[in-house]
Amino acid sequence: MTSPRPAAVIVLAAGEGTRMRSATPKVLHAIGGRTLLAHAIAAARGVDPQHLAIVVRHGRDLVAAHIAVVDPAAVIVDQDEVKGTGRATECALDALPEGLEGTVLVTCGDVPLLAAQTLRGLLEAHVASGSVATVISASLPDPSGYGRILRAPDGSVAGIVEQKDATDVQREITEINSGLYAFDAAVLRKALTQVGTDNVQGEKYLTDVLGVIRGQGLRVSAHLIQDLWQTEGVNDRVQLSRLGAELNRRIVERWMRAGVTVVDPATTWIDADVRLGRDITIHQQTQIHGASTIGDDVVLGPDTTLTDVSIGRGATVIRTHGSLAVIGEGAMVGPFSYLRPGTELGVNGKIGTFVETKNAQIGAGSKVPHLTYVGDATIGEHSNIGASSVFVNYDGVNKMHTTVGSHCRTGSDNMFVAPVTVGDGAYTGAGTVVRKDVPPGALAINVSPQRNLLGWVYAKRAGTASAQAAAAASGDSPVVPEDSVIVPEGNASA
Ligand code: UD1
Ligand code: CA
Repeated sequence: MTSPRPAAVIVLAAGEGTRMRSATPKVLHAIGGRTLLAHAIAAARGVDPQHLAIVVRHGRDLVAAHIAVVDPAAVIVDQDEVKGTGRATECALDALPEGLEGTVLVTCGDVPLLAAQTLRGLLEAHVASGSVATVISASLPDPSGYGRILRAPDGSVAGIVEQKDATDVQREITEINSGLYAFDAAVLRKALTQVGTDNVQGEKYLTDVLGVIRGQGLRVSAHLIQDLWQTEGVNDRVQLSRLGAELNRRIVERWMRAGVTVVDPATTWIDADVRLGRDITIHQQTQIHGASTIGDDVVLGPDTTLTDVSIGRGATVIRTHGSLAVIGEGAMVGPFSYLRPGTELGVNGKIGTFVETKNAQIGAGSKVPHLTYVGDATIGEHSNIGASSVFVNYDGVNKMHTTVGSHCRTGSDNMFVAPVTVGDGAYTGAGTVVRKDVPPGALAINVSPQRNLLGWVYAKRAGTASAQAAAAASGDSPVVPEDSVIVPEGNASA
C-alpha cells in the first residue's frame, strides 16, 4: 500500500536538554557524523512531506543556523514562553499554511535512530486504520520516565499519561509513548485549543490531545514497534554514546551486507554520510568520517582516520590521518602519513612514511616516500622527492608555493624555499637548499665541498671511545700528532 504524501512533518527541538550539561544545545550533539537534529531531519525528509517545520527555542540562534545549513527549505518555528510539547506543536501549526489538510507527523529532534521507513510504517498504519491520531508505542522492560499508553477495556487507545502524573497502577504499564505521532491536521489544531496546563509540570502536553480526540468519539490508535532503539531519545551523554555505538553497528553491518569486508566491526567507525564501493577491506581501528567516498577494491587501515577524504579504486591507505584530501586510483599512502586539507595524490602516486602534506597536488606516479613535509606545492607526474625534504612554504608572514615538474629526481634532505620552481626532468643533489629556480634538465647543487680535518678526534676528544675506535681502525698507521690538527675558521672552540 502506498501512503499519501504527508502534509507536514513537525520536528520538536525546543527543549532544553539540561541533563547533557553542555553549552551546546542537545540537538546539536552528534553521532555518526551528524547532529541529532540532522538525523531527525533525514528521517522526516524520507517521507517527502509538503512542509517540514522545526520548533526551536533553547539555543535558538545556534540551532537555527544549523538548520539553515542542513535543510534550508525547512521552516524554523520559534516556540513562545508557554512550555510543553503541545504548545510547540501548536506554534508549528501556526507557522504552516492556514487550512492545512491531510496528515501531520510529529517527531522529536533527539531520537536519532528513527528511520524514515518507520515513519512510513506509521503513515500507512494511520491511513489503513482510519484513525485521526496514531502514536508509535513500544513495550519496554523498564518504562520509567516515559508517558504510558492507556488502553480502554476493548484494547483501543484511551489516552497517554505522563510518568510524573501517573498513578502507581498506571506506572506498572510497560507500553510507552515514543513521542512520534500521526495526526489529522485539522483535528489536531482544534484539539490543541482544548488542552490546558493543569499537570505536575504546568506544561501544555501534546499527549493530552489523544484523550481530547477520543472524547470527541474519534478514533485513536497505537502503532506498536519492536525495534526499541528507534524510540530511544538522547537525554544525557551516556545515552549519546550508547545510541552512537548502536548507530555505528547498524551502519557497519549494512556495508558488510553491501560487499565491504570489515575485519573488526567493533573498532571500525563509519559515519552516516560515508559512501563505500565494493570489495573494500577495512582493517581494525579505522574511522571514516564526514562525506568520505571510498572506491572499489581499496584497502584501509589498520589505525586510520579519514574525514572528508575521497579515495580512488584500488588504493591502499595504512596508518594514516587524513582530512579533505583526494587519493587517486591505485595510490599508496602510509604507514604513518598525515594528509591535511588540499592534498591531492594522483593515480598510482605515493605518500609514504612520516610524510605530512597540505595543499599539495602530487601528480600521477609521483612519489614522496619518506620523512618529508610538502606544503603549498605542485609536483608533476612521475617525479620522486628524496627522503627527508621540506617544502619551506612559510617566511613567517606569508605562505608561498613551490612547483616541481614531471620526471624530476630531487635529492635527499632538500629544502625547497618557496616561491621556487624545479623544471621538468631536473635533478637536485643531496642536501641542496633550493632557493633559485632550477631549469629543466639541470642538476642543482649548492652544498660546500667537504673537508676532512685529519686527526681531529685524537686531538680534541682524546681518551674517548671514539678516539679508541679510531685508533683501532687505523691499526699500525701512526696517530696524527696533535699539532697537525686543523681547526676550522670561526669554530675555534670546537
Ligand atoms: C515526551 C512525552 C512522553 C514520551 C516522551 C518520549 C509529552 C508531554 N511527553 O516526554 O509521553 O514518552 O516524550 O521521549 O509530550 N520540546 C519542545 N518544546 C517544549 C518541550 C519539549 O519542542 O516545550 C521537544 C523537546 O526538544 C524534545 C521533545 O519535545 O525533542 C520531547 O520533549 P521532552 O522534554 O524530552 O519530553 P519528555 O518529558 O521526554
Ligand atoms: Ca525526552
